[in-house]
Amino acid sequence: EKGGYEHFMMKEICEEPAVLKATISPRVRDGQIQFEHFKLTDEMVKSCEKINIIACGTAYHAGMVGKYAIEKLARIPVDVDVASEFRYRDPMVNEKQITIVISQSGETLDTLMALREAKKKGSHTVSIVNVVGSSIARESDDVLYTWAGPEIAVASTKAYNTQLAVLYLLALKFAQIRGTVDDETIRYYIDQLMQIPDHMETVLQDKEAIQRFAAGHYNARSIFFIGRNLDYALSMEGSLKLKEISYIHSEAYAGGELKHGTIALIEDGTLVICPMTQDALFEKMVSNIREVKARGAVVLAIAAEKHLDEAEKAADAVITIPNIDPLLAPIVAVTPLQLFAYYVSVMKGNDVDKPRNLAKSVTVE
Ligand code: F6R
Repeated sequence: EKGGYEHFMMKEICEEPAVLKATISPRVRDGQIQFEHFKLTDEMVKSCEKINIIACGTAYHAGMVGKYAIEKLARIPVDVDVASEFRYRDPMVNEKQITIVISQSGETLDTLMALREAKKKGSHTVSIVNVVGSSIARESDDVLYTWAGPEIAVASTKAYNTQLAVLYLLALKFAQIRGTVDDETIRYYIDQLMQIPDHMETVLQDKEAIQRFAAGHYNARSIFFIGRNLDYALSMEGSLKLKEISYIHSEAYAGGELKHGTIALIEDGTLVICPMTQDALFEKMVSNIREVKARGAVVLAIAAEKHLDEAEKAADAVITIPNIDPLLAPIVAVTPLQLFAYYVSVMKGNDVDKPRNLAKSVTVE
């Protein structure tokens, strides 16, 4: 059932190119984005004043990326909330808002309850769910399935990549309806999205480089992730993945936040992982790398191929991803972080697919 792989997690990471194709392709027709049986009307999208994104854990980190994409393309303000916080704070939701709920299992109790709360307050609800026919899929007004197939490993991988793909499609669809970007730009992003499965293959071919890097760091006591903008959202996910299966303490920070406290934790030899996929902020990240290296940190950068030389000058080691528009980079750049967490976990002899204290589907509070 593991298809020749040692662990489900590796099998599922290796499925990413195929499941991304399955999630993206059917929704793109003649240069247009189409969602089947979509009840959300163009009028509702046009009059929408705010979007709420609600989820837990990895799905919440996908939501953080969704916020950037929707705000940038469709110019609708987005709040991203952890479901267990949203549901208990009498959220200011009304019928002029659209609520997007993200869940792999479709059964996470806090997320389901938050969905009910948003519906009760009159918001149209759209869920992004992997398990067909699950509670969240059934109870939301619209459901956009991620076609990731069964995800068995507790640590979510391919589901996250496909959640991002659906969020980008939604952001583009909203942008098209609201006229916030021109048709040429829409076609450009669609073309970029269609190239992602091939880019994923390229990243996976480079697995061994990540394995070799992990071999030098699996005994670390603490590992930090820093990034800016979309790379900050990505850092949050990379750090969570590492914590849950490697049991190594890890934290993620926005690059600009370091000097407000966190930098005190950097010691000689501390590993800091720095995704730097956002062209406009590349130089800012180079400065952040200098700051941590001056305190003794060892830095692994995740950068686009086109930036390899500059990244190598700044960091101790570089993992490259293919050149892709920075807005879409998290889909591709998360995979080296998933692989890093995987290899560290294997090297530590941990139960990769069933990490301690965790359940695949959290149906209790
Ligand atoms: C982390 C992980 C969890 C889930 C979270 C939400 O790898 O798997 O953080 O993302 O429990 O689960 P779903 O998406 O099923 O609602």
